[in-house]
Amino acid sequence: MAEKKKIAILTSGGDAPGMNAAIRAVVRSALYFDMDVYGVQDGYFGLLNDDMRLLSAGDVGDIIHRGGTMLGTARLPEFATDPAVRHQCYDNLNKRGIEGLVVCGGDGSYRGARLIQNESNINVIGLPGTIDNDLAYTDYTIGFDTAVNTCVDSINKLRDTMASHGRVSVVDVMGRGCGDIAVHSGIAAGAEAILIPEIKKSDNQWLDYIVQKLRTSFSRGKKYGIIVMAEGVYHAPKMHHFTADYIASWLNANAETVGHRVDARGCVIGHVQRGGSPTASDRILSARMGEEAVSLLREGKGDLCVGIVKNRIVTVEIEKALSMKRRVDKHLIELADILAR
Ligand code: F6P
Repeated sequence: MAEKKKIAILTSGGDAPGMNAAIRAVVRSALYFDMDVYGVQDGYFGLLNDDMRLLSAGDVGDIIHRGGTMLGTARLPEFATDPAVRHQCYDNLNKRGIEGLVVCGGDGSYRGARLIQNESNINVIGLPGTIDNDLAYTDYTIGFDTAVNTCVDSINKLRDTMASHGRVSVVDVMGRGCGDIAVHSGIAAGAEAILIPEIKKSDNQWLDYIVQKLRTSFSRGKKYGIIVMAEGVYHAPKMHHFTADYIASWLNANAETVGHRVDARGCVIGHVQRGGSPTASDRILSARMGEEAVSLLREGKGDLCVGIVKNRIVTVEIEKALSMKRRVDKHLIELADILAR
């Protein structure tokens, strides 16, 4: 009798809601095709420490609706820098006869995946698990939709209290190099102004932009305001001071430029937006991508990342996925601008 094909799955980098749904999809699809699946604990750490176990259909029960990742996640910089670390990982996979590995994570995790693919006999498939939506080869990443909904929910609540007090809320959302969470949650929550790292402005230019936006809405009778900024704006060089609190204080101290009484507050949504039950959209995305990853490994394919483009599942070589530059959706920016008048 032919040996069963053995594969493994790990989650790595920042967690994202929907990772559990992806693990479930990979495990159940693999079992359907009569393959063995190992769950690796804590990302690349589990490969190094030989911390992996066979998963059954029941092991992935009751997780589809849970945020986080049942396998745990971590960042292991030594994986990229130390060949001895990597070879220990390959040995731990090889001694079990594992020939395929699914890596669910963001660009850092994909760089690790590329090394495994290039240096070992293991086929690797990447699943885009990150709330940031910063992988250019796919329209959406697993966790993005949930994070946007969490931000919108928080901004709705802020709106209630800002409206009651006639205040301005400057809301910081995640996205170190990518403004997608800010753009999508800003449009969905009806923000006056959206600040993203892809648009290069100095602190003064951003302040001018915010002032103009607030002037416009105060002049038509609005009594409060919502400004959404991606954290990536203050991660840029020379912009580290430019936080939500800084902007709020500046507005309070410069109310005359707005031509209206201003009482602004900064609010950092923070890690709340990485947690929570995944939306139906993220669960379905995880299911489709997880099944595709298993089909590819079953066919003996590797060196690919799974994505979704125009609602169709696509695959792209890992190297290509990493080299593609994400472009901001200009139309969405214009739309936000038009609707905030
Ligand atoms: O990559 C996802 C992300 O949530 C970023 O948006 C954010 O900058 C970063 O992770 C925060 O990471 P940490 O887990 O180290 O706080």
